[in-house]
Amino acid sequence: MAGALALLSRTSAPASTPFERWQLDDGRSVTLRAARGDDALRIQALVRSLSPRTRYLRFFNPLRELPPALLDAFTHAEPRHELTLVAYLDIEGQETLIGMGQYVSVDYPAQCEFALLVADGYHGQGLGSRLLRNLVCIAVEAGIETMEGELLDENLAMRHLAQANGFTLSRHPHEAYLLKAHKALAPPPWKCSQLAALASLPAR
Ligand SMILES: CC(C)(COP(=O)(O)OP(=O)(O)OC[C@H]1O[C@@H](n2cnc3c(N)ncnc32)[C@H](O)[C@@H]1OP(=O)(O)O)[C@@H](O)C(=O)NCCC(=O)NCCS
Repeated sequence: MAGALALLSRTSAPASTPFERWQLDDGRSVTLRAARGDDALRIQALVRSLSPRTRYLRFFNPLRELPPALLDAFTHAEPRHELTLVAYLDIEGQETLIGMGQYVSVDYPAQCEFALLVADGYHGQGLGSRLLRNLVCIAVEAGIETMEGELLDENLAMRHLAQANGFTLSRHPHEAYLLKAHKALAPPPWKCSQLAALASLPAR
């Protein structure tokens, strides 16, 4: 995925974008929105904050920071090619990222590949599910036909999350330690939030 993302150029998301807001079990308010050009430092802070285990489950290697090309791709949205959602808490007036999810399509409209990340300490509160469901809604609206993801065989949370949202799992054709999640995209059974409107961001 990193290689594919590195090939893509970019367009900034507009300053005012749709969002979804809800409350965690502890009452704190979480907001989901599209990543913007000025999120680079926030995303690096999120990645730096991860435990080695979470970092490995997401990136399959122990990187401590995102390489510039990947960071650049994550902070520029164009729904036919790449889109990143970030989840943040407002902590003393600062947006502190606690999760992100993205898809990238290198052969629009046939397929896109997704990945999810929730910060340690916020697992199991429904954030991963919100991220994935919103990504599906946006990709459907953008006209993408299938969504896929690669996950470690040992990643029970991601296996459960993918299957609970209509993905089928199969062995990765080349890597024994990976599974592939696959879903033919169609209007989902869940209600899409206003984030689905991100699909109509202007094409490059
Ligand atoms: C995978 C990940 C994104 C899930 O996010 P999350 O916010 O913890 O997930 P949710 O709270 O939405 O839970 C989703 C479902 O998984 C289940 N789940 C959570 N942890 C689980 C585990 N260890 N084993 C089995 N099921 C688990 C939850 O019970 C929930 O099921 P339900 O909806 O039927 O109740 C998160 O754990 C994470 O960031 N992990 C590290 C990075 C990673 O693995 N990324 C995926 C690579 S694509």
